[in-house]
Amino acid sequence: MTPIIILDFGSQYIQLIARRVREQNVYCEILPWDTPPEKVLARKPKGIIISGGPNAVYEPGAPQAAAYIFESGIPVLGICYGLQAMVQTLGGRVIPAIGREYGYARIETFAQNPLLPLGTQLTWMSHGDMVETLPAGFTNVSKSQNTAVAAIMDTRRNLYAVQFHPEVGHTPGGPEMLRRFVVDICGATPNWTPDSIIEASVERIRAEVGDARVLAAVSGGVDSSVAAALVHKAVGDQLDAIFVDNGLLRLGEPQRVVETFSKHLGVSFHPINAVETFLEHLRGVTDPETKRHIIGERFIRIFEEQAKKLGMPPYLVQGTIYPDVVESSGTGQDKTRRIKSHHNVGGLPEDMDFKLIEPLRDLFKDEVRAVGEAIGLPGGMVWRQPFPGPGLAVRCLGAVTWERLERLRAADAIFTHALGDADLLHMHPPSESADANINAPPRGSAQAFAVLLPVQAVGVMGDQRTYQEVIALRAVTTEDYMTADWARLPQELLAQVSNKIVNEVEGVNRVVYDITSKPPATIEWE
Ligand code: XMP
Repeated sequence: MTPIIILDFGSQYIQLIARRVREQNVYCEILPWDTPPEKVLARKPKGIIISGGPNAVYEPGAPQAAAYIFESGIPVLGICYGLQAMVQTLGGRVIPAIGREYGYARIETFAQNPLLPLGTQLTWMSHGDMVETLPAGFTNVSKSQNTAVAAIMDTRRNLYAVQFHPEVGHTPGGPEMLRRFVVDICGATPNWTPDSIIEASVERIRAEVGDARVLAAVSGGVDSSVAAALVHKAVGDQLDAIFVDNGLLRLGEPQRVVETFSKHLGVSFHPINAVETFLEHLRGVTDPETKRHIIGERFIRIFEEQAKKLGMPPYLVQGTIYPDVVESSGTGQDKTRRIKSHHNVGGLPEDMDFKLIEPLRDLFKDEVRAVGEAIGLPGGMVWRQPFPGPGLAVRCLGAVTWERLERLRAADAIFTHALGDADLLHMHPPSESADANINAPPRGSAQAFAVLLPVQAVGVMGDQRTYQEVIALRAVTTEDYMTADWARLPQELLAQVSNKIVNEVEGVNRVVYDITSKPPATIEWE
């Protein structure tokens, strides 16, 4: 059973809708808009949400909401395009609006209803069409300056629709509206909590694996760590976890991973010190793609060797999460599918045949983190920022040597500790800074690190001229890592970090701060 089904009509916010529903502790899944009715109804949903989308509903070929959705007796909420699709299918009329309405709109709800409180509230609109005629049985309960029809409903049939986007941060009352829909109107039980997720997941893994052996490769990243910890909770000693220290991790990271898994969680843990072999293969290599290739290849060879040593366990843990599933439009796929290889932890051998255990397949990143905390992983591991698979090799521009890696590690630790102390190692959403200035950049950083440049700069220390390397500091704000802006860090913090780096890190005499956005730059330097 899936309490809430979200039918995707092509909304750019589709994952956000699902996350907002899950934040009400109600489980939901996204399905394509044209999923066969029997497949949707087989999930026995307590409610259906039909999403926004880029089309105009009256144009030929635009996706339409099938009549069964409204005839099934299941409560339905339409959002933006979902409202228009609902209106058109049920016999109302949608036409182009005189002007597009995009951005903040203050709506006024003037009729008592189960979805929205009376009075005004700030919402976010993005539409170019409007409702001309409502379908029979519907009433309009809300309006904005530009939109006469902002929220409609037929409470007798439990059909609701809003023109604005309750799922975005710019609609502060959105979460409460979604709670009213999924909990009050649909009657979904808010029981989707970290503990219930863990319990269900543990049961599923036990049922599937039986007494077979399971292998996991842990990278120190959030997903692979939480996946391994969950599987360990389910099957205990049947799990063997491999951790490859490639020498390309940040200061103290390998020690923390080993400490957490072997000492703290008691996992049968196999740390492999492969620093020398990685550095050997990387010697003299300066091309970024060649570095990536070498690191991927090395990882595979070591993994292969270890898997053989451990008697080739039939099951392999993968840290695939729900956004990966949605983005590859594999929603609803068979969870026990067998694949030959997958490249989660830097690539696995083509010819190794594992059955996959993917305990995070239904979870968003924030849910993975909540589960990680509930299962006892340390906060530093659960909340860490993304870190690329090839590690510091792609932040140590030019040749990768132990000496240069140590230099980079020291500078990176100074920068990230300073950010951590100032509570800037995560993003503070703009909604925290009220809606007074909606263009204010978010505070904090989604990813922050140091880069060692392959140039030498002139400096002066004491009476001596120096000729040493340059550290670039990079900190960005982003939601999706596809586009990013440089973080507006406090100048005083940058000044302190710069001083500390040139004073304490041997071989560095200059620090610069990267002020390019993505695009045109990327987040990493290579
Ligand atoms: P870019 O530099 O492309 O980075 O703007 C976007 C996000 O991807 C991460 N990244 C990588 N992750 N292997 C990874 O696992 C890689 O080769 C790699 N290159 C970039 C980067 O850290 C950022 O979060």
